Amino acid sequence: MTLASLDAHIAALDVADGLKSVLTVAARTCAEISDVVAGGALAGALGASGQINVQDEEQKKLDVMTNDRLTQALLACPAVAGVASEEMDEVQPASNTAGDYLVLFDPLDGSSNIDINASVGTIVSVLKSPTPTPTEADFMQAGRNQVAALYALYGPQTMLVLTTGQGVRGFTLSSDGEWILTHDAIAVSKDTKEFAINMSNLRHWSEPVQTYVGDLLKGADGPRGKNFNMRWVAAMVADVHRILMRGGVFFYPWDRREPNKPGKLRLMYEGNPMAFLIEQAGGKATTDGVEAILDIQPEHLHQRIPVALGSANEIDAFASA
Ligand code: F6P
Ligand code: MN
Repeated sequence: MTLASLDAHIAALDVADGLKSVLTVAARTCAEISDVVAGGALAGALGASGQINVQDEEQKKLDVMTNDRLTQALLACPAVAGVASEEMDEVQPASNTAGDYLVLFDPLDGSSNIDINASVGTIVSVLKSPTPTPTEADFMQAGRNQVAALYALYGPQTMLVLTTGQGVRGFTLSSDGEWILTHDAIAVSKDTKEFAINMSNLRHWSEPVQTYVGDLLKGADGPRGKNFNMRWVAAMVADVHRILMRGGVFFYPWDRREPNKPGKLRLMYEGNPMAFLIEQAGGKATTDGVEAILDIQPEHLHQRIPVALGSANEIDAFASA
């Protein structure tokens, strides 16, 4: 049996050649990043960089290394008009003026997992550029406009999960460094008995979120009449991957600690690409159980949002709590 490669899959896609080259470059760079992640201490990839990013977070060495690699590789691709990253204050226009695409990324998601040898990932969102010489305003497009979204998960296997709006497929990185199609037609189950949330924040959540999670914890003895299991990897890529593989729901709600901050996760680098993948797989991706993440008109490049996504019937249950 010949196994289909990501290159063959991309070549057969009914999308513009420019988008094909953007996806090829992103996938190749994720394969390179996988090597650096796997090298860990041997690749000089552990520990803090000593720098603070635009989000006021301390950057790890790997945040900086992965951001540099993705930025350089994508800006060298003639189809790219500009890039934006969770790790960079401002958008970076390409020096060529023939590019059609804007690429936004979280180069290293789940960075608190790096030093403990647990799963991390890379998340990528692709938009059409309204102009070959984009400014920040050109990036301010609703997630519905995305032409592709993907993530790479650096776990026990390295996987790349991709949508171009025609379903969701998963590829596994072979020992030869080739992405091989291993998961066709990925679908999120409608129902689930598994939820993901950082329970240590319980006392800070709004009343409805506390009530909903409280009901899940009561299990078969409570109003839901069934037992729920909980998982929290602390890397959104890994938690979303589990949901794509076996269903589930993932929440990062607003909380009272910083009432003026809408949430922790970033709309442009995390919310939108993950929402595109989840919706394409038949799940729901919302801020509050109702409002679709993909319909939000962004106001700031580094905007944060609350997130509630996953198995459709359970997101509906969350909405009515
Ligand atoms: O990128 C932010 C992030 O690391 C996500 O990947 C993850 O889901 C979340 O933050 C973990 O948050 P916490 O530190 O509260 O567990
Ligand atoms: Mn992240």
